[in-house]
Amino acid sequence: MSLFKDVLKDSESLIIDEIALDFEYIPKILKHRENEQKYVAECIKPLLQERNGKNLFIFGKSGVGKTAAIKWILRDLENETDVIPVYINCWKTETNYKIINEICRQIGYKYVLNKKTDELIRDVSKILNKKSAVLVFDEVDKLIEQGVIYSLVEDIYKKTIILITNNKDFLSHIDQRVRSRLILESLEFKPYNKEETRSILKERTDYALVKDVFDDASFNLIADRAFELGDIRTGLHLIREAVMIAENNSCKNVKKEFIEEAIKKLDDFKVKDNDLDAREKLMIELVKLNPGKNIKELHTIFTTSGDEIPYRTFFEKIKKLEKKGALTTKETEGTAGKATIVGCNENKKIDEF
Ligand SMILES: Nc1ncnc2c1ncn2[C@@H]1O[C@H](COP(=O)(O)OP(=O)(O)OP(=O)(O)O)[C@@H](O)[C@H]1O
Ligand SMILES: [Mg+2]
Repeated sequence: MSLFKDVLKDSESLIIDEIALDFEYIPKILKHRENEQKYVAECIKPLLQERNGKNLFIFGKSGVGKTAAIKWILRDLENETDVIPVYINCWKTETNYKIINEICRQIGYKYVLNKKTDELIRDVSKILNKKSAVLVFDEVDKLIEQGVIYSLVEDIYKKTIILITNNKDFLSHIDQRVRSRLILESLEFKPYNKEETRSILKERTDYALVKDVFDDASFNLIADRAFELGDIRTGLHLIREAVMIAENNSCKNVKKEFIEEAIKKLDDFKVKDNDLDAREKLMIELVKLNPGKNIKELHTIFTTSGDEIPYRTFFEKIKKLEKKGALTTKETEGTAGKATIVGCNENKKIDEF
């Protein structure tokens, strides 16, 4: 027996390939999403036969592999076919102008200077119509404008358009003109079961770390936590944290206590992250006091009470509070057009967010 066998030397690291634990990393083989990927491939296949593809609506909770599965397919398309893959994250790229510019960037079209959105849509359509395209709009519920999608649906002949979101009810938020032209198939990504969660995280760990950093029991602590939360991303985060704690303690393996520390850190972080600023707390109070009001009405009440927050910021805060589970929103369509009614999650106190 040696007291020093498990001590990490200064130059040693437990990590072989850090990228394999990155959230954006796309593994060579994406386990347990074979059926979903086959379904998506069926929608795209007509494009390889010079026909129009099917459009698809993908939904599912956070961290269940929606983005990873689709990016995997886009990479495959790029390597194996002539189909042009386009991926837009609507959280970062949320307006018509930004979207069309991003598409230009991805397809390598450089003549964008001083051109208006409409002109660029025409240029892009011409280029895409020489071949066929798969256009993915991820986190599509974050879009502020849907005009580009409408134009692309109209102007591109051979395409598959894929919309991805956490929000199962998003379809009812899409402009009627877009919806009736898209004709979307629906595909749900259900959370992974315990065994699947374990095997996905195990594979990522095997790529990323030196052998035997975790014993089975310790590893399962993390995997089971990720399973409980239904989120692979949390599992990857915990693995990274626990390994860092082990390295900081100069240990060659991750002990149970390091994992517990990582889990505690995650919980603390969540509390901090979830801390609401004073304005957000006021907004929740405002919604409580004004049941049945839509976002615009609430914004007017809020600004007339003295806090001149821009509408866009107000809107984003409502959406953030909805994501945290503090507020609920519901789309309605009345005589005055569409409106988003905001409600309160009565089951929770403000301090719980
Ligand atoms: N089957 C899988 N095999 C390997 N890694 C996976 C698998 N499924 C998910 N992951 C990994 O889990 C993390 C979260 O997956 P992803 O980003 O695709 O989730 P998502 O469903 O798009 O979540 P969100 O709705 O929050 O965008 C990523 O790092 C991804 O690589
Ligand atoms: Mg995603």
